[in-house]
Order: sequence, then structure tokens, then C-alpha cells
Amino acid sequence: MDEPTYTTIFEPFRIHSVEPLRMSTRAERRGHVERASYNLFQLRAEHVLIDLLTDSGTGAMSRDQWAAIQHGDESYAGSPSFYVFEEAVRELFPFRHVIPVHQGRAAEKILFSAVGGPTKVVPNNTHFDTTRANVEASGALAVDLVIPEGKDPASDHPFKGNMDLAALEGLLSARGDDVPCVMVTVTNNSGGGQPVSLENLHGVRRLCNRYGKPLYLDACRFAENAWFIREREEGHGERDVRDIVLEMAGLADGMTMSAKKDPMGNIGGWLAMDDDVLAQQCRNTLILTEGFPTYGGLAGRDLEALAQGLTEAVAHDYLRYRIRSTAYLGEALQERGVPVLTPIGGHAVYVDARALAPHLDPLQYPGQAVSVALYEMGGIRTSEIGTVMFGRHPDGTETPASMDLVRLAIPRRVYTQSHIDYVIEVCEKVAEQADRLPGYRIVDEPKALRHFTAAFEPIR
Ligand code: F0G
Repeated sequence: MDEPTYTTIFEPFRIHSVEPLRMSTRAERRGHVERASYNLFQLRAEHVLIDLLTDSGTGAMSRDQWAAIQHGDESYAGSPSFYVFEEAVRELFPFRHVIPVHQGRAAEKILFSAVGGPTKVVPNNTHFDTTRANVEASGALAVDLVIPEGKDPASDHPFKGNMDLAALEGLLSARGDDVPCVMVTVTNNSGGGQPVSLENLHGVRRLCNRYGKPLYLDACRFAENAWFIREREEGHGERDVRDIVLEMAGLADGMTMSAKKDPMGNIGGWLAMDDDVLAQQCRNTLILTEGFPTYGGLAGRDLEALAQGLTEAVAHDYLRYRIRSTAYLGEALQERGVPVLTPIGGHAVYVDARALAPHLDPLQYPGQAVSVALYEMGGIRTSEIGTVMFGRHPDGTETPASMDLVRLAIPRRVYTQSHIDYVIEVCEKVAEQADRLPGYRIVDEPKALRHFTAAFEPIR
């Protein structure tokens, strides 16, 4: 008998435990955001209705992950939970050394403390903010070499996360001796959650071979990237996502990982590599800053949850729903005339705030203006990915970022379609008033990673 086909793609789970949402009024939110100095990171989460600040650590764990937590073994050294975790990682990323850390930036810190340093240059398609900060904290220069389409919000290139191979070759031939490793971020978060093609990864690998450089993946959203390869790249439509992930891993010499993303953890990460000498050096730092190499800043129960989460991250039903439900939000905004970065990314929809509020100069932070308005109008918390995040440079100067985006990041398995329908309505209302939004100025900021703690005031 023929399998009947339906067009609705629904959540491949049902809800087992619920968390209350706290309703609020616009007047209350106006007070909350003013007290937070117009920095949404400074809000109390209970004052947020729909939290799209990040997809990091905010996912709902499954029944099987909660069950796995009961197997957690909290031995200081040699915990069986570590071996369960290591095996689950190595089934997808068969590197010789898997070093657990408490989250992605700890892996970055350990790696760049070992391979970075003054005079060094690290190329990436686009460094995430913590990656850039850790490269720079070592004294090295972080260079973003995404293809030109990756910086054009309207380009519909299917793999806007791709590395610009000519630019990478240019850097390697000019400053090869100073490059300790090449990094590729999958998917390219700061560039709109855009995927990197397998063909491009093969191209990067060839250049790394030619210049004798190791290739590291920043692999937080590896499964979403692999799903895009399956959907968009010629010849991969029938492959198992696990198989695509193995091919991606096989092209690299190591990886940094925030397990708070695709691996469905509320905390966790790892650093992995084949290089025995470097691994020893990294484990030595790990013991100083994170913990013993068989737990590395995590509890045994966290390691168990991640091992189970990894098996769920690569399930096709889940990924089909995940990518489709993000696109649902993006397409609805497009239909309502809200400018969004296209194609729609994997974990988030990015509103083009510069296009939505063209009356604001980039140095008046259009992304901040739109994020504050989304909170005030509807209690939706988003994050600015633009001039606030990337505009200030280590030498103290400030320039506009290449794009001013507002990211609506979708926590995994948390919100239903009606939550998202509400988000669509709020965005539409903000877009109607976008030409009247005030710009912002920064009245106080730290030296690095200013977006987390800077204080703003509206320019009236
Ligand atoms: N790399 C990428 C591409 C990321 O998106 C993140 C975190 C990290 C590294 C660092 O990982 O947070 O576990 O230390 N991104 C989060 C976000 C915070 O909201 O996009 P971490």
C-alpha cells in the first residue's frame, strides 16, 4: 500500500513536563528594560515572555536524557560516564583525543593558549564572539574570510557560510608561518546560521594540506549543517546525516565544541584532536582550569546527558522539524515585509535591522534599537549581532560591523508553533513602527565582549 503523504511537519515529540510563562504588560517591560540599561542580557529571565536570546543551553532535554542522568557516575577519575561520552563523541567525530570542558569557550581558551600568541593569525569563516575574544586574548589576530555572499543579507547562495578559498590561500601564502591552524565554524553563527558545503570543506582541506596546517571545526551546530548539506548539496540527498558528519570530521584535525547547541545539553563541551603532543599540552591546562581529563568541568551526569543528546541530534525526523520550523518563522516574517537574512539559517532567524531602520546610522546601533523594541512590544528577548557585538576593536577604535542583525534564536524542542505565531505578530507590529525607533548610545562599556554588560541610553 502507498504511504499517504501530508504536508504538515509537526514536532516529533509530545510534552511531558511544562514550565509556566509569566505574562507582562508593555508598561512593566518598559520599566524592566530601563532598569537593565537597555541591555537585554541584564534582564531577569522571568521578565521575558518568549526567550529567543540564544539556542545555547536552553533546549529541552528528552526523557531519555533525564534517564541517562541517573546513570551518572561521579568518580573523580575514570568515571564510566566519561567513556560513554567519549564513545558517543567518537562515533561522530573519531578524533584520538576527546577532552571534555564545561562549555565551548573553555575549549577555545585551552586551544588558543596552546597555539595562539602574538604574531599569530587565525583564519575562520567568521569567528564567533568568544572565539574571536579567545584568539585575541592570546595576542593573535582573528581574521574572518567568509565568501562575499556571506556578508550580503539578500544573497540566496545556499552555503553562505563557505570560506573564501582564494582569500584563505592569499593569507596562507603571505603569512603561512604565522597561521597555527585554520578554523571553520559550522554553521556560521555570526554570519546568520548559514551552512558550509562539503565541497568547500574539501577545498579548505586541500589548502591546509598544501600549506601544512591543521584544520579545526567549531562544530556547535554540526548536525544542522549536515542536514543542509543533505538538503542542498548535489549528490547527498539520500545520505544518513551521521555519514555526512563523519565525512566532515574526517576532513578536520580537531574541533572545539559547545555541547549546549546541537548535542542538546544544558551545559558542556569538548576539545578534540588527533595531535598527541598538543593534546597533552591541552590536558595540562585543562587540569589547571577545568578539571581532571575524565570530567573536565562537568559532572558525570552531564556527560551521560550529552552522550544521549548526540544520538538525538542526528535523527532525521528531529532535524527535518528543526530546520523546517525555523524556516516557518523566517518565511512568515518575509511575507509580512520584515527584512530577514536569507536563506533562513538553521538555529535562528536574523532580522536585517539596518534595512528595517535605515534612518539609524550603524553607530546608533539599529540592531539594539530593534531588539529593545521587540522586548518592549511583546516581551521577546533577542540578541543584537552587529555593531554593538563587533564594532569595537582591540586598538580602541569603533567601526560599523558588516551587518546589523537581530537574531531570533530558537531553543531546541522548547516553543510550539503558537508561540512562534505570537512572535511573528510582535515582529510585524515593531516593523510598522520601525521608522520611529530611537537609536542608542553606549554610556558604559567593558574592554572586551561589551555586548554582555554595556549600558545604553536612547538618543531622544
Ligand atoms: N562557537 C560558536 C559558533 C557559538 O555559537 C558559541 C556560542 C561558541 C562557540 C561558544 O560556546 O557558549 O558554550 O562557550 N554561542 C552562543 C550563542 C552563546 O548564543 O550563539 P559556549
